[in-house]
Amino acid sequence: MWRLGQRGLFQPGRYLLHPMAKPVVFTLALLPLGWLIWRTLTGQWGANPAEALLRASGDWSLRLLCLALAVTPLRVVLVLPALARFRRMLGLYAYFYVSLHALAYVSFDLGWVWLDALADAARRPFILVGLLAWLVLTALAATSHTRMVRLLGQARWKRLHQGVYGVACLALLHFFWMRAGKNDFAEVWVYAVLIALLLGWRAWHFLTKSASRPIRTSASRY
Ligand code: HEM
Repeated sequence: MWRLGQRGLFQPGRYLLHPMAKPVVFTLALLPLGWLIWRTLTGQWGANPAEALLRASGDWSLRLLCLALAVTPLRVVLVLPALARFRRMLGLYAYFYVSLHALAYVSFDLGWVWLDALADAARRPFILVGLLAWLVLTALAATSHTRMVRLLGQARWKRLHQGVYGVACLALLHFFWMRAGKNDFAEVWVYAVLIALLLGWRAWHFLTKSASRPIRTSASRY
């Protein structure tokens, strides 16, 4: 296992704990928003701006979700405990971009005519899958504050936030189903492999951790 945070001249662990580290990550995660606004204001979305904006915001939602899911494996594999400081921020950014994506759908595709949503969802069920993922993410964002950990209790809070694994699977299904209509799966495979690695690593880590944990007998307790 690499010990990036602890050895050598280059000690990323120190930079990650710097008071400026959080503002820097915060600003970096805002760049896609700046890019979306810039392209909209300068009319660079091509022939179908509504569709292009909806797709670009969907892509950034998925990227931020993957980034938030990558924090724990990177923290453990690289032995960089300070990375945990950025997990909540990246998760909330994923929620922010998904909400923007949903807002783009409601304003451009539906034109705020809510009744059309029913007909559209029946015609394109992948939208319902996206909506379900957004609802779960809403619950996670609403309970992301440390005060909620105390309120719900550590174990219950952790179980609830494991819902993000379900969100990743739903997001992938949403993407796959949407692209199935176009028979274009190239990018879907990239995300499928990435999400399989991120979730597979967790399963493997959990199993190896439980296997190496000593079995507590009544004698070992004393
Ligand atoms: C975790 C939640 C979600 C994620 C990660 C996500 C991600 C994506 C991605 C990656 C795409 C395809 C972009 C591309 O082709 O490059 C997409 C398309 C789409 N999403 Fe979502 N989405 C989510 C939730 C939602 C929600 C809540 C709605 C609406 C209520 C929605 C509506 C749509 C629509 C209508 C499209 C198709 C755009 C088109 O026809 O070109 N999505 N989404």
